Amino acid sequence: MRFIIGIVLCFSVLAEKKLDFVLAVWRHGARSPMTFSKTSSIGDSFEIWPDGTGQLTENGKEMHRELGRFLRNRYKDFYPFDKEYRRKDIYVRSTDRDRTLLSAVSNLGAFLNVSTPGNVPFPVHTLPTETDNLLRYPNMNCKRFSEILKNKEIQQTAGYKDLDEKYADDFRKMAELLNDTTEYTLDNMWTIFDNVDCHKYNNFSETVPAELLSGPLYERLTKAAGLAMQTLFTDVEGNRRIELSRMQGGVLLGDILEQLRSPLKQYDFDEHVKYLVYSAHDTTLAAALVAMNAQQQNFKQPFYASALLFERYYDDSTKTHSVEIWYKNNNEFTDLTAETCGEKPCSLEQLEQAWLPVIPLNWDAECHHMDPSPEHLQAVQTKSNILAVVLALSWAIFISYFILSKRSSKHPERLALVEQEFSMGVDDKWSNVPASNFVNPSI
Ligand SMILES: *[C@@H]1O[C@H](CO)[C@@H](O)[C@H](O)[C@H]1NC(C)=O
Ligand SMILES: *[C@@H]1O[C@H](CO)[C@@H](O)[C@H](O)[C@H]1NC(C)=O
Ligand SMILES: *[C@@H]1O[C@H](CO)[C@@H](O)[C@H](O)[C@H]1NC(C)=O
Repeated sequence: MRFIIGIVLCFSVLAEKKLDFVLAVWRHGARSPMTFSKTSSIGDSFEIWPDGTGQLTENGKEMHRELGRFLRNRYKDFYPFDKEYRRKDIYVRSTDRDRTLLSAVSNLGAFLNVSTPGNVPFPVHTLPTETDNLLRYPNMNCKRFSEILKNKEIQQTAGYKDLDEKYADDFRKMAELLNDTTEYTLDNMWTIFDNVDCHKYNNFSETVPAELLSGPLYERLTKAAGLAMQTLFTDVEGNRRIELSRMQGGVLLGDILEQLRSPLKQYDFDEHVKYLVYSAHDTTLAAALVAMNAQQQNFKQPFYASALLFERYYDDSTKTHSVEIWYKNNNEFTDLTAETCGEKPCSLEQLEQAWLPVIPLNWDAECHHMDPSPEHLQAVQTKSNILAVVLALSWAIFISYFILSKRSSKHPERLALVEQEFSMGVDDKWSNVPASNFVNPSI
């Protein structure tokens, strides 16, 4: 009997699912303030921030070495640490900011336990900020979204106004404590509270009153900073979460889903990488979390060196993949799988179903990039009225077909017309997400 149990146990261990791909999206470590405050007594200067604004600090590098060690330990049985660094195993992409590039380098140094001075074997890829539609958020390249932000549509909702009122006294108190004459609201509080946190997490806290470094006021302001970030990507009521996510975090989810189905391969290799890294920002994680509809209650601003981990497992007995999603935010390490997917284990198909509503069918169209601009229309009109009519007509056709295709994306003949008319590929659900143009920039 014991022998049989032994065999069954042994067998079930063998049949267990095995990790076969990890995608990590993280925020950079502690940095200097985004702007030196001139209106407060906090005292920012090149003396305490010698690298200038928005730069990774020594504390920030250490935070990422710590995350690197954490990940090294988590993936000790998965990543081939015992072998030499091989580019077929790993691909790293960062936003084009010194702090995210340096965070990636600090993290990987610890992850791969690099000990040779002057020899950093791993490349970190990047795209210019203006063209990076995958990792930079809020993505103002999306015209429709940037209009919503500029018109402060979210700020005019009842839920947002309630929050602004709820924290108004705290904002006043913060300004008072910093001898700052600026009037702070949920909208702009980060422009000084960010500096407070930069001082706090980089050991320059003498100029910051103790009430702003810890305790109930600090806690409430931290909470408000989280809500301010969340409401960049959704209204408080959540009525516009899906609509806005299709223009923002849904783009990243579309890419993540694509990677989970068919992970990136380094040029020259048939097998996919084991580990794919996106080194980015708190807003990147926030956009993703809002789109995933995860952690939406009591939303927290993603802390320095926080990370979302998307782990793909392969079950040899069923020949299927499943996904686990984990979130490391400061000292918390949370399993988001069930919350994101609806249940755990989570199959790739279930994840796709959960994310489908927020993945744009056609990002350019949903961002209204096809709108003829009024100036353009006018210029055409003066030349020829016929051309203007044609332009307006094709625009009308495009809009109708886009709306129709949204209702029923299963009808290729409808989509073909859009393609003909506007030279836009929409035959695949997310083929036109700009992010998926990212195939393998190392070539
Ligand atoms: C506060 O602001 C006033 C007026 O701007 C200034 O005179 C005073 O020195 C400031 N106090 C501190 C502690 O910075
Ligand atoms: C890192 O490398 C050093 C020197 O090669 C070794 O002593 C140490 O045990 C390694 N650390 C880990 C966590 O593998
Ligand atoms: C700097 O602050 C961090 C926490 O923010 C703390 O862990 C660290 O010990 C401090 N370092 C020094 C040198 O004071």
